[in-house]
Amino acid sequence: MKKITVVGAGNVGATVANVLAHKDIVNEIVLLDIKGDVAKGKALDSWQQAPIDYYSTKLTGSADYADTANSDIVVITAGVPRRPGMSRDDLITTNAKIVVSVTQSILEHSPNPIIIVVSNPLDVMTYAAFKSSGLPDNKVFGMAGILDTARYRAFLATELSVSPKDISAVLMGGHGDTMVPLPRYTTVAGIPVTEMIESSVLDGIVERTKKGGGELVKLMGTSAWYAPGAAAAQMVESIVKDEGRIFPVCARLSGQYGLDDIYLGVPVQLGKDGIQKIIELKLNDDEMALLNDSAGHVKDVIGTFKSMDLI
Ligand code: NAI
Ligand code: 2OP
Repeated sequence: MKKITVVGAGNVGATVANVLAHKDIVNEIVLLDIKGDVAKGKALDSWQQAPIDYYSTKLTGSADYADTANSDIVVITAGVPRRPGMSRDDLITTNAKIVVSVTQSILEHSPNPIIIVVSNPLDVMTYAAFKSSGLPDNKVFGMAGILDTARYRAFLATELSVSPKDISAVLMGGHGDTMVPLPRYTTVAGIPVTEMIESSVLDGIVERTKKGGGELVKLMGTSAWYAPGAAAAQMVESIVKDEGRIFPVCARLSGQYGLDDIYLGVPVQLGKDGIQKIIELKLNDDEMALLNDSAGHVKDVIGTFKSMDLI
């Protein structure tokens, strides 16, 4: 018996709920939004898809946190998305207030949930949810790495004319232009990617990945939702099924990689209690320098959040 709440019934939240319902692995999904009728409408639409696509997961929409009571997992997508010309960090003033108040409202009705944050700027919003929840850090983490890695894998699949299924990769760091794709940990059906592709082409793909979110904002006038929604649903799946899968996840570091009290993308194992283990790769000096650069950037934005005095 699992109950999942998705807060924010916009592009990403509605996609998380819909993709998750298709997996047919939880009993109930509540879609909550300040626009209650939109949440109700999208939940009803997804529920009416159930007889066609054969799932039993019941979806409902609401604007009332009482309806989220006793959720096992909460995915927070509430907030404003990027518009052309904006960076993710430009969203902090609006989204920090939303994420803090959403987290506090959730905790009033669900004492011990796992929280997956999606709202941007991701690393700092996950930090905000952690600080305002009082939950242990294995239960509060963020989605970005699966998405960024998927973009990297998709670009490589196109370049190499192979199936994206055969591309395995690790990407670390913050969810921003300083993210750190790691070619040394990228393989194509077990073959190091560096044996399959010219280094200048690979460099181009790494750069395109770093700006992958912005590429879509330019095309659509708002940020992406299909891959982000599927990525968050995949995290929920690994937790619900206690699969222990390894994904890049925005996790709180307390000494790992020489970093402390910061949220950053690192490989973790996800199971029924949330983060079961943070995996510490043996990064070389160049990779570590890139990770530290990314961490420095996230720390600056955490500074902005702290100066807002919301908690
Ligand atoms: P959207 O505008 O389509 O949906 C946001 C929803 O949040 C709206 O329906 C709005 O009514 C709702 N909302 C706002 N304040 C709320 C509150 N206090 N309580 C409940 N609901 C509230 O935006 P979209 O595209 O779904 O993006 C959502 C967030 O996710 C954005 O911050 C975006 O930047 C972020 N994002 C993060 C990604 C990641 O990789 N971590 C990827 C894609 C988007
Ligand atoms: C994305 O990467 C904007 O974070 C959002 O698509």
